[in-house]
Order: sequence, then C-alpha cells, then structure tokens
Amino acid sequence: MRILLALISLTLLVGCFSNRGKRTNSDAEVNIYTDRHYPVDDTLFKNFEKEFGIKVNVVKAKSEDLLSRLEKEGSATKADILITTDAARLYQAKKLGFFQQMQKIKGFEAVPKYLKDTDGYWIGLTKRARVIVYSKDRVQASELSTYEDLANEKWKGRIAVRSKENIYNQSLLASLLAANGEEKTLEWVKGMVQNMYQSPKGNDRDQVKAIFGGKADVALVNTYYVGQMLNSDDQIEREAAESVVVFYPNQEGRGAHVNISGAGLIKHSKNTENAYLLLKYLLHPDNQRIFAKENFEYPVHPEVNVSKHVLAWGAFIEDTVELSRIGELNTAAIKLFDKGGWK
Ligand code: FE2
Repeated sequence: MRILLALISLTLLVGCFSNRGKRTNSDAEVNIYTDRHYPVDDTLFKNFEKEFGIKVNVVKAKSEDLLSRLEKEGSATKADILITTDAARLYQAKKLGFFQQMQKIKGFEAVPKYLKDTDGYWIGLTKRARVIVYSKDRVQASELSTYEDLANEKWKGRIAVRSKENIYNQSLLASLLAANGEEKTLEWVKGMVQNMYQSPKGNDRDQVKAIFGGKADVALVNTYYVGQMLNSDDQIEREAAESVVVFYPNQEGRGAHVNISGAGLIKHSKNTENAYLLLKYLLHPDNQRIFAKENFEYPVHPEVNVSKHVLAWGAFIEDTVELSRIGELNTAAIKLFDKGGWK
C-alpha cells in the first residue's frame, strides 16, 4: 500500500513539474502591435505559442500608424504590447500615456539600465549600433576616428547619409547633443551638410550602395543592414555590402551610438499576465541569442554572446548614455537639424 501511495505521489509530482509554465486555456492570447517585420519575430512568437498554449496575435504596421491607432482605440484597444524600433519612439509612446509601469520580474533586471526606461515603462529587446561604413578601396581605417570628425573638411562631398526625418539619425544627433552640447552639435550638423555627396535621400541600404557606386566614400548606417545585405538574395546588395567595412566610431571616448528595438506593456492591456510571460520569454538568454542573431543585432542580455557574423565586425565600446535621455532630446535634435540645414 505504502509503495503504491509513494508511486502515485511520484507520478503526481512528475506531472506537476512537466507542466510547469504550460498553459492549456485555449482562449489565452496576447496581442502585439509591432513595426518590426523580421521572420525571426514570427518564429519566436510561434515557439512561444507552442510552449505556453497562448495565441500570439500580431498587428504589423509603421510605428506612426500604430501610435495613432493606439490613440484612437484608447481603453478599447486589444493591444497588450507595443514593440517598436528606436528608444525615441518608445519615449514618445510613454509620453502619450500608452504604457503602464512594468513590475520587476525575472529577466528584466538583467538588462542594463541605459537600455530601459528610467521609470520602467519600456525595455530593450535587441540592440543595434549606428556606425560609419567606409569604402574598402578609397578609405583607410586610420583616416577615421569619431562621428565629430565627419564634419571635417577632408570629407567634403564624400558622405552618404539619410534625411533628418529618419529616427535613427535623430537619435544619433541626440547622442551627440548629450555629449557635446548645443553649440558644438549645431556646428557638426552644418559641417555634415557641407560634406554630403548629395541632399539626403533613401534608406540605410541606399547609402551603402552609394559607396559601392563610387558616389560617396563613407556613410552612417545601422550595423544590421550590413549583415542583411551581406546575406541578401540580391547580388547588388551583396556586392555593395562587400565593398564596405564597418567602423565603430568614438572608441577612444564615449563609444559608438547604440539603440534598441524595445517593448512596452499597454496601459489598457487585457492580458497582462500573458504579456509578461512573452516579454520574459523574449529576454530569456536562449531566445535572446536567436532574436539578435537572425537579424544581425546584439542581445540586450549581457550574458548572451553576439553571433559570429556580428562578431566578425569586432568587439566595441558603446555609448552608455541612457536611452531615456536620447528620447527626451529628440525634439531638440530635430530643431538642430532644421537650424543647420540638414534636409
Ligand atoms: Fe531599421
């Protein structure tokens, strides 16, 4: 009898452990609004669905459209999580009152302070660097040093960069503003405008192609575009990416500018617990590895190594100015772009 009882309790115990973390409620769901459009996100959401039995519903749209949709929907929104690129957008969503403060749960503490909101309204999920790329044929690494130095006359007519409308440029400028103050940053904007090979146009990939086409010698781009281009099905993209080298600026000083793709928990979320589970899942080291690797980004979890592709560009020092501050300086940065004539 005793043996039988022991066997029964053992079976129950094993059953209990094997079901840990699993949900079987078929109505369980979590709704995501996201401006990311990478296959790796879908893979992770599918894996999460399988593991927890929680349906992940995804709405993909441009960041501006998602923000106006959240505004319109108010408390009736179905969204539980907003995922978007660039801390300046997360800052904006927080300011518009779309988020709620996230409780401290396991996984959140691991993410360094500068990659999350000071009040806990949003958190980074993956990290990217905005760097200089240069022509293999026409530039030596020894000619490069800092973002600041790109305003030097020696780069006249040689720089490719996108417009002031681009949030990545706005955040980069905000980082210069945080480091150097208004006067010097305005001078930098003016110097850059003088050095552009054409009035800013196109996306980051186009800037790399401008170097490949011999129109420019250096460009400012996000690292993952180089990774995506190197692995593209399009031969021109591959050749263009192969014609450039990644250079991490400001390595003797504050480091290269980094930004995030991040998430916030929607204030009117109806599936808070599921949303927490998903965020925790995306921050888990195993998933951080996949999340960052597939899109040539960097994990935000400090214990997760970067992928081999990304590692090929070398380790680097990053600017650890708080991204909350970068969001705060966005308006001032846009004003400086206007003042300095950056189109
Ligand atoms: Fe991007």
